[in-house]
Amino acid sequence: MTQTAWWKTSVVYQIYPRSFMDSNGDGIGDIPGILSKLDYLKHLGIDVIWLSPVYDSPNDDNGYDIRDYQAIHEEFGTMEDLEQLIDEARKRGIRIVMDLVVNHTSDEHAWFTQSKDPTSPYRDYYIWKQGNPPNNWGSVFSGSAWERAEDDWHYLHLFSRKQPDLNWRHEPLRNDIYDMMTFWLEKGIGGFRMDVINFISKHPELPDGKQDDGEAYGDGSPYFMNGPEIHAYLQEMNRNVLRHYDILTVGEMPGASTEDALLYTDPERDELNMVFTFEHMDLDSGPGGKWDVKPLALPDLKKNLAKWQHALLDKGWNSLYWNNHDQPRVVSRFGNDQEYREHSAKMLAIVLHGLKGTPYIYQGEELGMTNIQLPSIDQYQDIETKNMYNERLASGESPESILQRIYTKGRDNARTPMQWTKEGGFTTGTPWLAMNPNHTKINVEESLANPDSIFYTYQKLIQMRKEHAILTEGSFELMLADDSELFTYKRFYQGETWLIVANFSKTTRTVTRDELHMPHDSYTQLIGNTHVNETTEGFQLAPYDAFILSFTEGDLQ
Ligand code: NOJ
Repeated sequence: MTQTAWWKTSVVYQIYPRSFMDSNGDGIGDIPGILSKLDYLKHLGIDVIWLSPVYDSPNDDNGYDIRDYQAIHEEFGTMEDLEQLIDEARKRGIRIVMDLVVNHTSDEHAWFTQSKDPTSPYRDYYIWKQGNPPNNWGSVFSGSAWERAEDDWHYLHLFSRKQPDLNWRHEPLRNDIYDMMTFWLEKGIGGFRMDVINFISKHPELPDGKQDDGEAYGDGSPYFMNGPEIHAYLQEMNRNVLRHYDILTVGEMPGASTEDALLYTDPERDELNMVFTFEHMDLDSGPGGKWDVKPLALPDLKKNLAKWQHALLDKGWNSLYWNNHDQPRVVSRFGNDQEYREHSAKMLAIVLHGLKGTPYIYQGEELGMTNIQLPSIDQYQDIETKNMYNERLASGESPESILQRIYTKGRDNARTPMQWTKEGGFTTGTPWLAMNPNHTKINVEESLANPDSIFYTYQKLIQMRKEHAILTEGSFELMLADDSELFTYKRFYQGETWLIVANFSKTTRTVTRDELHMPHDSYTQLIGNTHVNETTEGFQLAPYDAFILSFTEGDLQ
């Protein structure tokens, strides 16, 4: 029997370096700051750190606009600091996964500055078109996806105008990228999280996207997501680089279906280990997209996660996440960040970590950090948020109404500094983005001191993944799919059955043994945010209660 790959039994912790820990008082988190918190992460029990970009960057999109792939941004420290981080993490059994942002660079990258000259060998590193913009595509960050440069030439930028898209059709560019990846892998990193990696193959004819009435731009996504050469590029990357190292690879893939994901992650196809799906992150958006906020219907979430569980059960692999630096805080989004903050944060953790796949925790999630509401747009930093604000303001929407959208969906919700102590503890200076005022109550110091804190629920869930093969290997069955309050599923492995029961609502609920297909008495509670309360009527669930029960063979029908 082959040994289970280490990345299948690992739990990943994402660090957004700007907001994690500042060591020098400039208000910006840095690598020495991360070094000082490695023991904290070790105590939590995680196996892998995914480090959002720390490369040299003019910071138009907080480091996702890279000026030099092989240099560390001075705000974050030095290459020696990074090497020390890899080393110190390794000593604690933790691997460092780097962010690989190769759909685009910064417009200040040397490739791009040279590429502006039509005669330069770097011209074809980017996507240049002469005359009018060749299509109606809009940028993800508002406005056109085409920027005019000199002499009537336009270049493509799916994100900000300071993030020109690379031309993956051009082989020398691909080879330079592979060399750069090898440079990092030779430093001993544990893998790559690949930024919008399913955008790198554009349809060669760049056709117009569908443009609805009243829309300023068309939706080009069918022509750049999962494009015609994407599998060929990833297979080439795998042959040239990835397969020579024992690493974790995860592709960020908006717009990837389960069928796509199976192609990307089937081990026989030699592409990636896993992808980040966005489908469950889009369930509280209306037809107008991300900022068109609508309430989540729980059956949609359950059915979606179940679909992904089934699609990748026997072949391929899932990543599991509620949060990252682009998403609002999950306790505010799908839980209850008021009276049930701790209880619902634990419930969300139990539901996610009971699934099959590799769980990702985003910094502060283990504390139940919440969204923030800043009174004025001037206090926000995120380019997506600011561009959206200006666009909607220009079209006549009121500032109050736009701020409501930001409070619900804005990316800065996730980016407020990590809350270490009641005083804040992130910096001795002024933080680059406001600290959430609730740090006086929600912080690491308090969490570590309280044996009943959310932190210890995460610690235990991480530990359980090490101890119970059922979490990694077991099959999955969703129960009560249409119930709009309960999230209930089972896992099965080698005669063992686990039952995960969670109340996703503020309503007190009862669920019977019959509804759970559970006729026998004996079970063991493995974890929960409450003690199982079973009466003759069935299991009683107070708001946001959640637990996992284990049954051994014969106990369960
Ligand atoms: C996805 C990243 O997660 C996000 O933060 C960034 O703005 C875009 N890709 C562009 O790189």
